[in-house]
Amino acid sequence: MEEIINKSKELFLKNISDFDSDPFNLKSHIIELEKWALYMHKKYPDFDLEIVRLGIYLHDIGHYPLQDEDHAVISEKKARIFLEDEKYPKLDEVLHCVRSHRCKDVMPDSYEAKVLAFIDSASHMTDSMYLDIAKKQKEVEGYYDVFGKIDRDFRDLAHFPEVKEELKELHDAWKILLKAYNKIDI
Ligand SMILES: [Fe+2]
Repeated sequence: MEEIINKSKELFLKNISDFDSDPFNLKSHIIELEKWALYMHKKYPDFDLEIVRLGIYLHDIGHYPLQDEDHAVISEKKARIFLEDEKYPKLDEVLHCVRSHRCKDVMPDSYEAKVLAFIDSASHMTDSMYLDIAKKQKEVEGYYDVFGKIDRDFRDLAHFPEVKEELKELHDAWKILLKAYNKIDI
């Protein structure tokens, strides 16, 4: 199990080092996701942790180099090449997780895909991402709007309502904090 995961992790890190920059803070995002995967697996031990962990390392490899096409589509293409090379038997299951993680044009319909989509959104709430985006946008454009992103993330927690409820206070707190931050004009 660990070998294929380690290889996917190497591919993920190579994608960042080839681009020579990590504007989406993916390195920190992945660490948060690993913690979330283990937390969810303790609560819901029936999902395949290997598929979810591969999904973690492969779902965002389409971000770099930066492009206009949906990163979920590019990540799926890159993940397919990697998993075919490795002759990985659960290729379709992992690719579905990668392709559907944004809950956008393709919705997650396997247990593992629902977990990946959930932890992708949940991890934003336990990391500094909203503040990072707001700070950067405020510097460049003088204002920011991350509230839509916060609400979309919260909406995408619907597959696990009990854990969504655990995050409700944090969701509300981010909105209060960011509204207050927006008022300070320095
Ligand atoms: Fe992600």
